[in-house]
Amino acid sequence: MRVLYATAEAFPFAGTGGLGEVGRYLPQALKKLGIDIEVVLPFYQVVKKTGFSFHPITEFELKMGKRRIFTRILYTYYHSLKVIFIDQPEHFDRPFLYGPPGEAFPDNALRFASFTKALIKLMEKNPYHIVHLNDWHTALLPLFLNGKRPPILFTIHNMGYQGDFPQEVLEELGIPQEKELIVLHHGRVNFLKAGILLSDFISTVSPTYAREIQTPEYGFGLEKYLEERSDKLVGILNGVDYSVWDPRNDPFIPCRFSAEDLSGKAICKRELLKEMGFPEEISERPLLAMVSRLVYQKGLDLLLPILPFLHRKGYPMVILGTGERRYEDALREHAGKSPLLKLILGYDEALAHRIMAGTDLLLIPSFYEPCGLNQMYGLRYGTLPVVRDTGGLRDTVKDVSFKEKRGTGFKFRLKRPCYFLRAILRGIKAYRDKTLWQSLQKQAMNEDFSWENSAKEYLKLYQTLLTPR
Ligand code: ADP
Ligand code: GLC
Repeated sequence: MRVLYATAEAFPFAGTGGLGEVGRYLPQALKKLGIDIEVVLPFYQVVKKTGFSFHPITEFELKMGKRRIFTRILYTYYHSLKVIFIDQPEHFDRPFLYGPPGEAFPDNALRFASFTKALIKLMEKNPYHIVHLNDWHTALLPLFLNGKRPPILFTIHNMGYQGDFPQEVLEELGIPQEKELIVLHHGRVNFLKAGILLSDFISTVSPTYAREIQTPEYGFGLEKYLEERSDKLVGILNGVDYSVWDPRNDPFIPCRFSAEDLSGKAICKRELLKEMGFPEEISERPLLAMVSRLVYQKGLDLLLPILPFLHRKGYPMVILGTGERRYEDALREHAGKSPLLKLILGYDEALAHRIMAGTDLLLIPSFYEPCGLNQMYGLRYGTLPVVRDTGGLRDTVKDVSFKEKRGTGFKFRLKRPCYFLRAILRGIKAYRDKTLWQSLQKQAMNEDFSWENSAKEYLKLYQTLLTPR
């Protein structure tokens, strides 16, 4: 079975978060199941700096509306996986993937539409049995394709990003009049809508999110289309690559540990406290952490109001993140006032590992979370997540019952700071009971969210798509 997996992000080439991680690990897991899968993404400036060698396949002029866009197709191998790149220098030879921090390039509609249109050339050269698209960046493919085509699976990673542009872009994208209605939504162009309406099957990244996005609260205006297509919509959880995210073999952490022997975690905590400049005497206190994009989705509005209380109580906290200016500024202000909050504004993979290993409670109060990878990392490192009961967080974290001494994290549902605080305080109460805490850590660390399980579900879906109806 030959599959083309199209995405705007795939580490280690280019990425900004979860989409890039899925783009790295899911295709590899599918390959291990025997699928002949190829990944395709734009040839961004950062890709060139990765040190891989890239070989040309073909070059041509792509017609987009009135423009002609010089396009080259290149490839390389990553762990025996073929990765293909669409090189359109005028679109992708720029220092950022989507735009400077906090901004979007004004021509993003054209950039990603022409990336997507170039895939048709690739499909002509190299017939695929299935095309697997991801997010709005690739969602126009079924609209551009005419006539016979392979089945298309469209995976939605986040309804908050729809590829929403003013109607004027229709002309430059060269979308014919008879197809305009498919892509128009309340007088604007909406890439995601076209993907939802025209793909053969839609998946999203957790079963709960698959249900949630059919409601106004989570569907962000597209819920009715998703509801109409609910017989072709499933949720498949993302996974964790335990060869990278496991304290038993993590090269980034000062001391390895496991569910059987947690002593190394105490060393990781001590080292992290030192690195963050905290005094040694606070090592008995619970250390709270957040590693996140600092954007609305992640529920920072629930965290900011309770920070002063947590500091007054003397609980230390480490926050690693980058994102919207308003959240960065607000956090900087808190950090300026309290020596108990260490804030690192930036993206730092190695530090993310040290934080996962060296802290006790991982805060994830997301307003919505399609899947979330962080909580799964936290579980494996015995850093129990405090999560809002939504999306993939609901599907992967089991709320702790003090009575039964069972569970893997602390959940709250209502979007109010006081409920979030209550969940954190439950976590701290559990932390203080050492026997209970260790038993909860072990339960968390023994959870298994390996990519192999997710890949098997995708394989089943591919097989369904190939079964003649
Ligand atoms: P999302 O894709 O919505 O950002 P996920 O939880 O699915 O959320 O994935 C986020 C990934 O990005 C995780 O692997 C997390 O560790 C990583 N990450 C987020 N922010 C940072 C950061 N500032 N530094 C290092 N890693 C980060
Ligand atoms: C999005 C979502 C996140 C998910 C990731 C990968 O960025 O916000 O919840 O884990 O995509 O699917």
